[in-house]
Amino acid sequence: MDWKPEYNVGVDYLDEQHKAIVEGIRHLSTEFENEQGLRQAVSELFELIRTHFRHEEIILLRHGYRDREKHEEIHSKFLDGLGILEQKFAEVGSDLLPTIIDFLSQWFHDHFTQVDQKYAEIVGKFARPA
Ligand SMILES: [Fe+2]
Ligand SMILES: [Fe+2]
Repeated sequence: MDWKPEYNVGVDYLDEQHKAIVEGIRHLSTEFENEQGLRQAVSELFELIRTHFRHEEIILLRHGYRDREKHEEIHSKFLDGLGILEQKFAEVGSDLLPTIIDFLSQWFHDHFTQVDQKYAEIVGKFARPA
């Protein structure tokens, strides 16, 4: 997955987090010395995603974004799927990697362009959540 200008939401703090997610997904396609390294990269990326959702939701809440609940629901459904994937990965390991990369790349491309873009114009520049 590559970063695209169309992913920009105009909130530096959130754009940085989105870029870190894209980097994390790209990182999964690199060579890992061992299974342990791969497992750590996957778990760090999943944690990054969970943290990002929390921060994004705080910002939307503070801003009184009217579609916040719908947005949170989309995050929450995705996290259910992520939990299942995480469990499977714990059992199967590296064989599941292509599935994880495809799933995350597709989901985040769609989410950045179709869902996160909806708050972009409204929220604009904003302070970091505490
Ligand atoms: Fe989002
Ligand atoms: Fe986001």
